[in-house]
Amino acid sequence: MRVLMVNGSAKASGCTARALREVGETLQKEGIEYEIYQLGGDPIKDCTGCGACRKTGKCIFKDPDLTEFLEKAEKADGFVFGTPVYYAHPSGRILSFLDRVFYSAGSLFKGKPGAAVCSCRRAGEVCSMDVLNKYFTINAMPIASSTYWNGVHGSTAEQVEMDTEGLQTMRNIGHSMANLLKNENRAVMETGNRTDFIR
Ligand SMILES: Cc1cc2nc3c(=O)[nH]c(=O)nc-3n(C[C@H](O)[C@H](O)[C@H](O)COP(=O)(O)O)c2cc1C
Repeated sequence: MRVLMVNGSAKASGCTARALREVGETLQKEGIEYEIYQLGGDPIKDCTGCGACRKTGKCIFKDPDLTEFLEKAEKADGFVFGTPVYYAHPSGRILSFLDRVFYSAGSLFKGKPGAAVCSCRRAGEVCSMDVLNKYFTINAMPIASSTYWNGVHGSTAEQVEMDTEGLQTMRNIGHSMANLLKNENRAVMETGNRTDFIR
């Protein structure tokens, strides 16, 4: 089994990466592989709602091209979306990316467990977690829960290292995700009743 993580920070070795690694190492101890997909620092195009993906199944924008990520997502069994907190919300970077991913290929995620991870200097992790959780709840994805809000604190990875409670919360996300992945009994949901004029 394999969990695909997204680092919504431009920093590949920053606080969010450190938090994701703690979840990942717990998954490894549970016999589950993980990979962190780095969004990096290049500009990420926002969804414009053009609707082209509704006809072709593919987002027309190439910055970045979603193909590589979607190939990984198709093979993945679970997901962790990590973000730094910017003004008490997830980074614009991860929202632009996930809007395009889910609008063009949401079916790849259906029924697979997900968890949000947020990193902040001081506050805003709860609001950010709420936003990321909505990608899961609209896609019948069970949410891997933890023992406190899904956040670590710090401005650098070294400071996150000192947030022992935050890191414990991350490890418990890993245990919770492993438990969901090993449990075969998932809800069977109805599909095919989309009301186009509402969404
Ligand atoms: C534009 C911007 C806005 C931020 N807003 C907040 C905030 O609302 N609350 C907070 O606690 N930290 C805030 N921070 C600090 C980051 O969330 C924090 O340093 C985070 O751990 C950085 O993660 P990273 O190293 O993975 O990028 C902000 C940082 C930036 C650059």
